[in-house]
Amino acid sequence: MLMVTETLPTLTPPLPFKFEPRHFSPFGYNLESSILRDILKFSNQPGVISFAGGLPAPELFPIESIREATDRVLTRFGSQALQYGLSMGYPPLREFIAERVSRRGAAQLTADNILVTAGSQQGLDAVGRAFLDRGDYVVCSRPTYLGALQAFNYYGARYALAEMDDQGMKVETIDPLIREHKPKFIYTVPNFQNPTGITMSLLRRQLLVQKAHQFSVPIVDDNPYGELRYSDEPVPSIKSIGGQAVIQLGTFSKTISPGLRIGWVAASRQLMGVFERVKQSTDLHTNTFAQYVIYEYAKDGALDRHIEVLKKAYHERRDAMLRAMSEFFPDTITWTKPEGGLFLWVRLPVGIDSAPLLPEAIAQKVAFVPGQPFHPDGSGKNTLRLNFSNASLENIHEGIKRLGRVFAKVA
Ligand SMILES: Cc1ncc(COP(=O)(O)O)c(C=O)c1O
Repeated sequence: MLMVTETLPTLTPPLPFKFEPRHFSPFGYNLESSILRDILKFSNQPGVISFAGGLPAPELFPIESIREATDRVLTRFGSQALQYGLSMGYPPLREFIAERVSRRGAAQLTADNILVTAGSQQGLDAVGRAFLDRGDYVVCSRPTYLGALQAFNYYGARYALAEMDDQGMKVETIDPLIREHKPKFIYTVPNFQNPTGITMSLLRRQLLVQKAHQFSVPIVDDNPYGELRYSDEPVPSIKSIGGQAVIQLGTFSKTISPGLRIGWVAASRQLMGVFERVKQSTDLHTNTFAQYVIYEYAKDGALDRHIEVLKKAYHERRDAMLRAMSEFFPDTITWTKPEGGLFLWVRLPVGIDSAPLLPEAIAQKVAFVPGQPFHPDGSGKNTLRLNFSNASLENIHEGIKRLGRVFAKVA
């Protein structure tokens, strides 16, 4: 018998290969790393009470119910749930989301108005891809959600900034911004804003929608926290007031689990073709299995019951933080009193920069996020953000006491 022996050439170890700036796209290469990620590294050290992240309380994740839902999905729909899916998302989940968004007063939406995304962060990216060209302007408040700036920065956005007060973005000041910069859209987080916790008043929402029509500029209503209200009355959503002029982003990250990465874009049918193509080009579709699990978990009222549990726990934590701040913070410091969400916002006396206080806070085993990165123009040095959802009542009391000691040295 004839034996053929192939001799492979002897391989030398691969030579080093160094990537240099010229190899990269300037869009990706120039992105700044998030200061939040850097701070989170510090704040995850053992013993540090962290008010820095934006994390839901892990001990409240509905683990058992998700386990049961996962089991049911695998038993009943295993082969479909593990298969490729539609770019727009799993139809029953889209129907479910449409019903929930409509419940909050929006004109009757159907599954055709919903695109399922990998968290609302991907919704922000989809908006950037669909609308922004390099140098385009976005109108937003100062401060605003850092992750939105990161998403839009990738597409070369510039920002026309509106001031905020305790009623949200000062919408009555945006005419000159729109006239001068011709923005592609107005970006806002109207409910319990990240980072300030402030909610936009009804009057401002109505005015914003009026501006959208007057200047033909769409509104991007980023709404991850709307269902987490602990006090006062809900304000009608911008989507419910503005209809087709409004692209609303939502997510299950804060109400079920951020790790499952399921969010959505709710928009007019006219836009859905664009978003479908954007989604196809990004990742074909959102994780089919996670969509099935979320739907299976949520469909029979479990989500509503779980949201009540979260609201009770976060309400207590918010109140504990507010009480501790009144007790331990010097009276030169002010802060917001959010009606919901996960964050509140602290203002140190003008001239006191919060960032250099962070190492001292970490040394005292407590962490916060300096406020400046939430300001696209680099202002806001005397501000900082505190998260109240991810610490126990005891740790909130102790952490705020420690922060009070740090601030008392300078404020
Ligand atoms: C205002 C805002 N938009 C979007 C997101 C992103 O959420 P997701 O986990 O759904 O991507 C967050 C998360 O903190 C947020 O605060």
